Amino acid sequence: MKNIAIFASGSGTNAENISKYFADNKNIRVVVVLSNNKNVKVHERVNKLGIPSFVFSRDEFAEGTPVINKLADYAADFIVLAGFMNKIPETLLNAFPNKIINIHPALLPKYGGKGMFGMHVHEAVVAAGEKESGITIHYINEAYDEGAIIFQASCPVLPTDSPEDVAAKVHALEYEHYPHVIEELLTGR
Ligand code: GAR
Repeated sequence: MKNIAIFASGSGTNAENISKYFADNKNIRVVVVLSNNKNVKVHERVNKLGIPSFVFSRDEFAEGTPVINKLADYAADFIVLAGFMNKIPETLLNAFPNKIINIHPALLPKYGGKGMFGMHVHEAVVAAGEKESGITIHYINEAYDEGAIIFQASCPVLPTDSPEDVAAKVHALEYEHYPHVIEELLTGR
């Protein structure tokens, strides 16, 4: 059995989608969700599926040990970032080498880096008049959004699309692909 921990900072629709996808899986399950914010919807979304969630402060995340201890309590062996907005500290990277992945709501290396998260990404894509956007699933390393790319999928951006329209298309791609990519990485299927 592979045990996934999901890190999420916000609404948590991806966390919910991934948790539901693996709910009846014999080889993979989501065991715990960690967040830097107690006032966000991800807790309610996963708790109603029977998955516990915990909140850590910015300092606890930066230091790493409290988080690593919590992950050990749940025997987590893989970390999935789903809308997680904090930097992953080196202690955690060292404890989970090549076992932390992220989803970015654009086609990296475009629209990545500091400040590029959530709606900021879609606003920048529309402002630049891009004809397409999409998702990038990648490993996490020390730099923001620069780990090895595992998977990308794209969607058209129409001249009439608002940032909200692009966000909706990108979210649809995320729901469709993120669980499958995780499954393939963990089971080779
Ligand atoms: C997702 O679109 C995810 O790709 C993005 O935040 C959104 C979270 O939505 N992540 C980043 O921008 C990371 N840099 P959700 O909370 O509903 O899953």
